[in-house]
Amino acid sequence: MADTPAPRSMAVPLTAFTAGAVVAVLLGVFGKVHNPTINGTTTLGFRTVIDMKVVLTTAIGVLAILQVIGALWLYGKLGIRAPSWLGAAHRISGAIALLLSVFVAYHCLWALGLETGRFHGGPKVPMRTVVHGVLGCAVFGAVVVKVAAVRSRRAPGWFLPVAGGLLFALLIAVVLTSAGWYLDTFGWAGYGRY
Ligand code: HEM
Repeated sequence: MADTPAPRSMAVPLTAFTAGAVVAVLLGVFGKVHNPTINGTTTLGFRTVIDMKVVLTTAIGVLAILQVIGALWLYGKLGIRAPSWLGAAHRISGAIALLLSVFVAYHCLWALGLETGRFHGGPKVPMRTVVHGVLGCAVFGAVVVKVAAVRSRRAPGWFLPVAGGLLFALLIAVVLTSAGWYLDTFGWAGYGRY
């Protein structure tokens, strides 16, 4: 017997957006109050921590673009029939992108923190760095919203595409204000600064 669809409720997106906002703000507060330390970081064999972050972040950017193409394909928006393996591939590559993002963000939040105002009373923190840090925290709030959207059977139909689109937009902005800026400034052969 087919399942009767669960009634749609606005409570799901409202609760998810509230939980996501709380997560983003808590990460930002942690980034401000925590004393940044390079202890507990790794280069994964790259020359510097920043080289490792730039390479992984480039991979995250590519995976994010593949996620959007995969989602459009699954929703039948590309006009070509989606293969049967696409749903599983979309979930696996999404999980890999999330794990890599948590790994890189740990190296940002733990070792550098959320930088705003002035560096230890010295020069002003560049606007790019502030935007990167704030949106970096927002990304993990958007992850909470996206997971809620995927899991809930009672959310309105617009919730999943909006949650996915929000996460994608934030992630791309974080990639462009970090690895994008770095590669534009120093190129692939650039020397790490940390
Ligand atoms: C959790 C929130 C995050 C905070 C507070 C944060 C903060 C920072 C800060 C302060 C820097 C140094 C910027 C500079 O010296 O100009 C940085 C660098 C970097 N971050 Fe993040 N970040 C976060 C999340 C992320 C995420 C999710 C990614 C990857 C998707 C990422 C990728 C990078 C990369 C590649 C760099 C090196 C390039 C650069 O210096 O801008 N960050 N981050």
